[in-house]
Amino acid sequence: MKLKSIFTGLSGRLAGGLAGLAVGAMIAFAPAQAAEEEGGTPHYPIEHPKHVHWSFGGPFGHWDIGQLQRGLKVYKEVCSACHSLNLVAFRNLEELGYSEEQVKAFASEYTVTDGPNAEGEMFERAAVPADRFPAPFPNEEAAAYANNGAAPPDFSLLAKARAPERGFPWFIFDVFTLYAENGPDYIYSLLTGYGDAPEGAGVPEGSHYNPYFVGGPTLAMAPPLSDEIVTYDDGSPETVDQYARDIAAFMMWAAEPSLVERKSLGFKVMAALLLLAILFYLSKKAVWSALYNENSSSGGRAAPAMAAVGSAPRAGVDFIDDIELIDGIGATIAKRMKSKGVNSLAKIAAMSVAELDKLGETINAKSRPVREEWQVQARELIAGKPPRAAIDRAKVEKLLGKKF
Ligand code: HEC
Repeated sequence: MKLKSIFTGLSGRLAGGLAGLAVGAMIAFAPAQAAEEEGGTPHYPIEHPKHVHWSFGGPFGHWDIGQLQRGLKVYKEVCSACHSLNLVAFRNLEELGYSEEQVKAFASEYTVTDGPNAEGEMFERAAVPADRFPAPFPNEEAAAYANNGAAPPDFSLLAKARAPERGFPWFIFDVFTLYAENGPDYIYSLLTGYGDAPEGAGVPEGSHYNPYFVGGPTLAMAPPLSDEIVTYDDGSPETVDQYARDIAAFMMWAAEPSLVERKSLGFKVMAALLLLAILFYLSKKAVWSALYNENSSSGGRAAPAMAAVGSAPRAGVDFIDDIELIDGIGATIAKRMKSKGVNSLAKIAAMSVAELDKLGETINAKSRPVREEWQVQARELIAGKPPRAAIDRAKVEKLLGKKF
């Protein structure tokens, strides 16, 4: 399932990228503000997310447990006043290095609604590790009502849902560098990106200018962070910048706890496939090298049907390079063949079927080269096998001084 979505995502991106290549290349270099100045539809976000270095980035990344713990603290003390975290259960926090006891104690600080009881009533009780984080608002309407009409989105998947496309050519590099941090980059940039609106940009009552927001120039969330708003006990700086990094990392973990495993598995698979490809290439080269070496002298491609592996002359194999040893080639034909330049067994061994046929015609021995297996015979002789005809065999035995 996961693999499939990776592949469809990949092919979709590649196809889209190629199709949009020509158009994209032209638009990509036009400044984003140009459209606005001409009164066209403005393009958001106005600023691309900043590129942050994450401990979990790249194929060899890992979660920084201390950072995730700090992120949890920022969530608990600041963001959870407005944002829910519906899909994360307290027991998941054990992955952040907390013991079962610590998780139990953490959960018991929250109250959840349970029920109905035997009387049909809903009741409240202290949370246990199996419970999920309770939401700050009973429903979306209440959440929107309390926040100028815009409901704060749930955090569970936000780091994956807000992953602005990086466009050509970045998405091609991203496939290889396993870049999957658009989400935390975006969240960090948004949290640190509040600023004064440029002249003339109308900022409606209750909204706040932020050029990193994907939905428009302003959003309903006031800057939630300020320096020293959360106390860290590990000595990390208590600054907006550090808080933003930590909460973004925590949100990435919440959205994809298996991110690190997925990327390291993906990397291993890619490495294994690459190794396999190299092995295949080398063995292909080894298997075919004998034939290609012969071919380079004749210039033609060997006939595939007769391309038996191991037909090339091998070191240490004695044979007599006389084409008359082939059964079917006598003195007359041998003379005609030599006049066409075919004067060695290796040349016959390396010819293609078409070349053999053509040779047969020009020396007035139509179809005989293939029918009488001249090429197979040439290869056998090169491999040190005895000639087929008894008289030739005797001749070779005498010349080489050995018995077959
Ligand atoms: C006082 C309530 C409140 C608090 C506290 C708060 N937010 Fe928000 N947040 C909102 C609202 C409302 C929105 C919706 C904004 C909109 O759509 O205009 C929002 C939206 C967001 C978004 C989504 C932006 C997008 O692309 O749609 C992110 C990310 C976010 N908040 C992060 C945080 C983080 C991190 C914290 C804690 C440090 C935090 N918020 C604290 C009210 C809050």
